[in-house]
Amino acid sequence: MDAADVSDDLLNVLYTEAEIQARIKELAADIEADYAGKDLLIVGILRGAVMVMADMARSFSRHVEMDWMAVSSYGSGTKSSGVVRILKDLDTDISGRHVVIVDEIIDTGLTLSWLTSNLSSRNPASVEIATLLRKPEALQMPVDVKYVGWDIPNEFVVGYGLDYKERYRNLRDIGTLAPHVYS
Ligand code: PRP
Repeated sequence: MDAADVSDDLLNVLYTEAEIQARIKELAADIEADYAGKDLLIVGILRGAVMVMADMARSFSRHVEMDWMAVSSYGSGTKSSGVVRILKDLDTDISGRHVVIVDEIIDTGLTLSWLTSNLSSRNPASVEIATLLRKPEALQMPVDVKYVGWDIPNEFVVGYGLDYKERYRNLRDIGTLAPHVYS
């Protein structure tokens, strides 16, 4: 669905489908250049990263291996608690591999900070992070992010994998959720 289908639920459209696709292509080109001649494994963090992973992987003109992790932050509401547990681990042994973790958003930074340290302990050749969105004002933990699509304000955004109560993930655009939806 697109923003017009849920226009009553959105304050605005932050990024259109076309803008998202163009930015993903740029990120993929940067990654492709940086890993030229190297084996590359991209790791998507379920469930929000499904769209970014699918579009990024298809933007590469090279082979890329894909794996997935699912993690859960304890706590409720719209804020992350920072306590992370693994619900689904990698199927791949990343020892000696070049890994790029792909996510759709970094909010407090707690999830990606924890994940980077977890994956780094498995003796990979390298671990970097690619995220489509980042909220600098919400950061509670420094995270070294090599590839960022856009820095955005600290607002509740949905679409392109980002949900509110499991809805809006299939929205093609990214928009700011209207407060009446969650208050
Ligand atoms: C989102 C996102 C990151 C995390 C970022 O996942 O995919 O993994 O939150 O938040 P943080 O920087 O505050 O830790 P979420 O927990 O919403 O799960 P989902 O991908 O299944 O929607």
